[in-house]
Amino acid sequence: MNPIKKDRFSIVFNQDGYLELVDFIKNNDFNKILILTDDNTKGNCLDIFLSSIKDANPEVSNLIKSKLFYYSVKPGENSKNIDTSVEIWKFLIEKGFKRVDLLINLGGGMITDLGGFVASTFMRGIKFVNVPTTLLGMVDASIGGKTGIDFREIKNIIGVFGFAKIVLVDYRFLTTLNKRQKTAGYAEMIKHILISKTSELYKVKKVDSMEDIPHKMIHQSIITKVSIIDVDPLESDIRKFLNYGHTIGHAIESYLLGTDRELFHGEAIAIGIILETYLSFLKTGFDYDLANDIKMHIHKHFGSIEFSDSDISEIINLLKHDKKNNDDKPMFVLLENLGKPLINQAVIDREIMEAFKFYKD
Ligand code: GLY
Repeated sequence: MNPIKKDRFSIVFNQDGYLELVDFIKNNDFNKILILTDDNTKGNCLDIFLSSIKDANPEVSNLIKSKLFYYSVKPGENSKNIDTSVEIWKFLIEKGFKRVDLLINLGGGMITDLGGFVASTFMRGIKFVNVPTTLLGMVDASIGGKTGIDFREIKNIIGVFGFAKIVLVDYRFLTTLNKRQKTAGYAEMIKHILISKTSELYKVKKVDSMEDIPHKMIHQSIITKVSIIDVDPLESDIRKFLNYGHTIGHAIESYLLGTDRELFHGEAIAIGIILETYLSFLKTGFDYDLANDIKMHIHKHFGSIEFSDSDISEIINLLKHDKKNNDDKPMFVLLENLGKPLINQAVIDREIMEAFKFYKD
């Protein structure tokens, strides 16, 4: 798999990726290295990661042994908060970490968001490396410099832009995921395909099961994201394309959070994609048959959940009061066509209700 090299960061893959990581560690001569995991990735991925470093360069692996520190947090979004950040900052201070040291985030989006935030704020920023262990982490969360934590029940409301120097994608970690976790990441891949200029929807439609996702398709998904953040890293313009499916998706995710119908982020985004593709048909002339095709493909992999009338009005309420809106109007990214997103599109309640009907039919 070809590496993707940019000024601010590199994305490297598999065995070659470990060689790059080892070189990076050797060349920077870090005094201390913290590996941040959650208890799942500590159990499922840490040994693979350490033995791959050893295979890449036994000498460096030996040299860094005495420099390595480990910190593990509870799995799940609940750990992505200021209290956990404080605990990790305390640990770094107690262990004598300095500005020249390194943090390696080994985990899914929660770990790379949290660890990226801790690293970017500790002593005004220390270097960090992301090693995503979920599909969603590989194609989205670990790339692009968005770091942050949740605060007062608002997701990612506190954070900074901070770029991992290296993102190391090791596809073997996908085997540690269950079907539901993989499917959730697949939603962001569908999004990348719909918004990208090289729309390859026909390839997506061939994906029959989560075991079938070709690594080449994951690589292409990463390229799509990189091509956008490369032009607009701070989201003043085209990076907003990446919010396709997220305006309603986030509201659905928040609405169901803490209930027995709670969804993974990617599952909520998959629903958001169906709804916003229908809104695209209504508002910008997106082809209806294509919208229907996309819906069928998403239903095939994600199934469908029931929304009552009162669910829908609560979700619309949440949309309007999303604290991230600039005023009380939620703005959507809609598609004029495949690969042709339009930002800052307003829609009215009745259109959203219609979109929920389309989701259900
Ligand atoms: N996940 C959307 C972005 O990175 O901008």
